[in-house]
This record gives sequence, structure tokens and C-alpha cells, in this order.
Amino acid sequence: MNQLNKEEVRVFYPDQQTVSQAAIQGMQAYDALCAEAEADYEGFWAKLARELLSWHKPFKTVLDESDAPFYQWFPDGELNVSYNCLDRHLEKRGNKTAILFEADDGSSTAVSYRDLYQSVCKFANGLKSLGLKTGDRVVIYMPMGVEVIVAMQACARLGLIHSVVFGGFSSKSLVERIEDAQPRIIITSDGQFRGGKQMPIKSAVDEALQEEQSRCVEKVIVFKRTGEAISWDDSRDIRWDDLVANQPDSCEPAWVSAEHPLFLLYTSGSTGKPKGVQHASAGYLLHALNTMRWTFDIKDSDVFWCTADVGWITGHSYVAYGPLAAGATQVVFEGIPTYPDASRFWKVIEKHKVSIFYTAPTAIRTLIKLGGDLPAQHDLSSLRLLGSVGEPINPEAWKWFYHEVGGGRCPIMDTFWQTETGGHVITPLPGVTPLVPGSCTLPFPGLDVAVVDESGNEVERGIGGFLVIRKPWPSMIRNIWNDPERYKQSYFPEDLGGKLYLAGDGAIRDPETGYFTIMGRIDDVLNVSGHRMGTMEIESALVANPLVAEAAVVGKPHDIKGESIVAYVVLKGERPTGDAAKNLVESLRAWVGKEIGPIAKPDEIRFGDNLPKTRSGKIMRRLLRALARGDDITADISTLENPAILQQLKS
Ligand code: WT7
Repeated sequence: MNQLNKEEVRVFYPDQQTVSQAAIQGMQAYDALCAEAEADYEGFWAKLARELLSWHKPFKTVLDESDAPFYQWFPDGELNVSYNCLDRHLEKRGNKTAILFEADDGSSTAVSYRDLYQSVCKFANGLKSLGLKTGDRVVIYMPMGVEVIVAMQACARLGLIHSVVFGGFSSKSLVERIEDAQPRIIITSDGQFRGGKQMPIKSAVDEALQEEQSRCVEKVIVFKRTGEAISWDDSRDIRWDDLVANQPDSCEPAWVSAEHPLFLLYTSGSTGKPKGVQHASAGYLLHALNTMRWTFDIKDSDVFWCTADVGWITGHSYVAYGPLAAGATQVVFEGIPTYPDASRFWKVIEKHKVSIFYTAPTAIRTLIKLGGDLPAQHDLSSLRLLGSVGEPINPEAWKWFYHEVGGGRCPIMDTFWQTETGGHVITPLPGVTPLVPGSCTLPFPGLDVAVVDESGNEVERGIGGFLVIRKPWPSMIRNIWNDPERYKQSYFPEDLGGKLYLAGDGAIRDPETGYFTIMGRIDDVLNVSGHRMGTMEIESALVANPLVAEAAVVGKPHDIKGESIVAYVVLKGERPTGDAAKNLVESLRAWVGKEIGPIAKPDEIRFGDNLPKTRSGKIMRRLLRALARGDDITADISTLENPAILQQLKS
């Protein structure tokens, strides 16, 4: 939780220089924009969409609500996302650096907008030669690099729907996503470099395709990153270099409807398997670009660096799409923050003269611990703006980031948003918002955000409730792939009237300023190091183990990761003790790593003869949460079937 100690709250005013340059000048201008959106909601978005995007066919309809909550934005307009990210910059910015690629080993290369355009066109032509057509799905499972962006942009160019799967997910997770998205193609690499180590990646694709039942995948395209020996299937595998050899370096973009799905990105929900969040083309790009302008104040002279992997939404909106749509120069980083040592971020900022730096609280907390004095040893004077994303940033980490990294000069944009929202929802704006450490402050202009009670009525300021968005917005999720019912139920629940978008977070507003503070998820979703994990997913992985009868997973606050994963396990056989228990913990952790990925491994596993249940058989998770934290059980346990079990599960 993100409770602020009143004495500790300090209001930080953004630097004067930032104020004078910013896109929105001062709180009055912000209020005026919000009022404009309030007075003419469609007009507000239509104006932005016309100004910021290049349309092949202009739209007439702004918002179609006839099939709500399946909203459509600018549906009769046509454009191409890759055209908007590349072609339209060629004349003015052809020689401008689009990407400064910083490899794991510290070497770097610069890619101009023209280079990137040509690589995307060649690769798109290669994809076309395989017979792919608009609407086909493509799974991308690659390490960070220029090529993963080329692959995404090439899909966008042809109207292919990509689904990027984070390279840290296991082959089993890949199987699940393949079976749901039904891709015709998978794009991967031979291996990957991470923290000085060479690691496999294509082997996970091979395994997945052996297991996968639907046989939808026709070809696997393999980019050579490490050059290591890998197994090869001549009838299926294609070398990236062979595919693009002799392809022309221009490629007519596919003009698609504004509503054409741009991508699917799987994310965890409170129940069942991960859901394929479906985003549309125009509305998504509009917000990715406009947040680059209003939140990050992007200018042609900036060097932007978002440290997220493209496997997550942050890497979609603020690496693969937003910065390119803005014609910005950005650093793309293959490595990890702690290799070769904990000064890597500061070295990269110094080397590439990064001016806008966007990272996650987990990374900040790790770097404070491993070398809080290291930023001072580097020239970070190029920085002018900082950003934080993925989880609440605690005031201590905020202050360190502000003073040690930003030199007390750079405002911090604590951006609250989600995979489903496509871009920022609540965030300070440079030149506008006085900052309070630990608060993501105020809604982005146009986003109608509120805190409501169980029946959907707005609560008073100072009272906690559910965070909702009351009006549809252009970059919102359009559907859950293959599961429209789940889309409706998860995001527009009937209890709240069926019209409010339910974010899944608790929030509270400051009585005086109206600032929002996010209080964490209200569902069974954990946020571990900024990664979203469903407790049910981890439980399913555990019970898939032949030794396990039952499992319950809860989160526990963690100094660095935000939350850690605690699993309660009931075995089919005897409850183990001593070394046998230790060994079993290790093998179950490894098991979950294989089932989902290393990020889902429980930090702690406790064995019991049973789980605390009500007489109707429901697991009492709040008791498990209290036990995990080591709290005394003060709650009413009269409905508990088996109170004796609590003692056993204490450690
Ligand atoms: C969940 C969404 C936003 C892109 C990366 C994560 C939490 C995100 C903040 C923030 C407090 C935050 C919320 C949200 N969250 N940003 N600035 N302050 N909490 O996207 O994987 O879809 O996770 O991350 O709980 O619901 P995601």
C-alpha cells in the first residue's frame, strides 16, 4: 500500500525551464483542456486525431457506441500505423537517428529513420512472400533489439496482428498463447544475450510447436543474434537474412480501418488463463503519440529512453510505437540494469545523453540497494524529465530518483495505466502539475477517471473505492481475443451499471488537491517487480504437478519487488519436513518456472495438511495473506472449518 506519511509530503514544483517549454503551460491550460473535453468529448478527440495522425481516408464518425461496450473510434477512417511511425518522417527526419541500440555487451549502433524504414519494408516484403494477409496473426518471441521493432512495425505495415510474447515466458506459456491467437508465423531468434550470458530462445519455440495441438504455425523466422548452434527444421524454419535478401526496400502499406486490430497482448486476470487484450490501430497510436507530447514533452532534440521490454505494454506504447510516431530519437536497451554492474543505467544515460528517462520503481529500488551513490559518479546533466511506471513508487524511492538521478531539476511523471488502457490514464504533466511523491496526481486530459463504491456511485474525496473510467477513450482495449463475454464481465461489470470501465485497482483522492493515489489491485492479481501475475495462474501451475493436491497463492509486501509470491501447498502424500521439504520447495519453484516462466516462481512455499476453508469449502485468502505477512489473526474466524490449520501454516 501506498500510504503517505503527512509530514513527509512535499510538493515539488517542476523546473522553470521545463515549464516554459512544455506543451501545456500551467494548471489553467490543463483545466481548459479538461473543460474542452467535458464540453465536447468527441470534438476533443477528433481534433487531436486529425492533427496528430496522417490519414489515408479521413474519418467522419468519431465514436460509435451502438454496440457498447464494444466501442469504435474513427471507424470509417483509414490509415496505416507503420506509415505514421516511419514514412511520414522521411522527408524531414530521414537522417535523424531513430534508434540508439545499446547491446548487452555495451556496444552500440545508431539506426536512422531511413534505415529503419528500409529494414521494415524489406521484412514486410519477406512476410508478404510467405503469403500472409491482413488480419493474420504473428507471434513474436524475441529479445530486445532493433529487429523486434522491425518485426512489429512490419506486421503493422501489412495489417498483420502481432502478439509479442515476453522472452522470459516458458514454452508452456507460449503454447497457451499460440493455441489462443492461432498465428501462422512465429518470429524468434537463435539465442539471446542477457547480463553477459548467452541463453537459448529458439529451443522454447521448438518445444512449444511440438506440444501445440492446433498445428496453425506454418513457418518460424529466425533472426541470428548469437550465432549459436540450434536445431533446425528445413521444412519450417527460415533464416531472417534469407527472407529479406533481395527484397525491395520499399513496401506499400496496407490501408486499414482505424479499428483494425493492431495487436494482441496477453496479460493476467484474476481467473483462468491469460487474456488476449486486443487493441485497435488509430485510437491506440493517437494516445501513444499524444502522451509522448503531453506527458513526456517530447522535442526533436530529445533522447528518450524507456527501459521496458517490448514483451509488455510499456514496451509497445513507449518503445515500438509512441517514440517512432513522434519522430523521436530513442535508446533501445538489450541488457539488464545490473550488468556489468549497478551503474549501467547511469553509464547509458551519460553515453547517449539521454534527456527523458522512463523506468520502473523495482529497478530504482534495486539500484538504490546495490549502489545508491553511483548516479553521483556520472554526468547525468542531459536529463530533463523522469518517468515511473508499473507499480506505485514509494516516497523514499521517489525522492532518491528525484535528487540523485534527476539532480533536483527533473520532474517525475508517475504514470498510472494498464495493458488495457494503451497509454497513460493518470499522470502529472510537465509544466502543469505540482508533484507529490507517491501520487500519480491527476487524469490525463480527456480521460474521465473517478473513484466509486460497489454500486458505481462516486465516493467523496478522502474515501477509498474502485478506480473507474467513465467514458470510452480512443486507446482503450477493444475486446478479449476469442472471449467477448469475458471482456464485458471483467471490464464493464453489471454491479457497477455495466457502463463504467473497471480498472481493477483501488484508489483514493486527496481531499484538497483531488490527487489520486493508487492503493493496489482489488482482485487476485499480483504485481511482482512491475509484472502482472494472476494468483490463479500460479495455483494452476502448482496443481499440475503430480505431487500437489491443492494450492493457494497470495502476495506479501516486498522491499524491492513491491510484492513477493507466497504459495500454500497441500501435497497428495505426507507433509515433508527438514531437507525433504527444502528439496521439494526447490523442485516446485523450478516447476512453476517451466510452467509459466521464472518471474512466476514463488518466493516462499509453505506446506500444510489442508488450507483454511469456510464450511462451504471456500479458501479464506485474507487469512492466508495475513499469515504470509506474519500478522496476528485478528479477523473473525468463526466461519473457518478447520481453525487448527492456521498454526501449521505460520511458517
Ligand atoms: C497494473 C497494470 C502500466 C504499464 C505497465 C503495467 C499497476 C501501473 C502504476 C502506477 C501504481 C501502477 C496497477 C495496474 N500500476 N502503473 N504508476 N502506480 N500502480 O501494466 O501489466 O497491465 O499492469 O499495474 O495495479 O492495474 P500491466
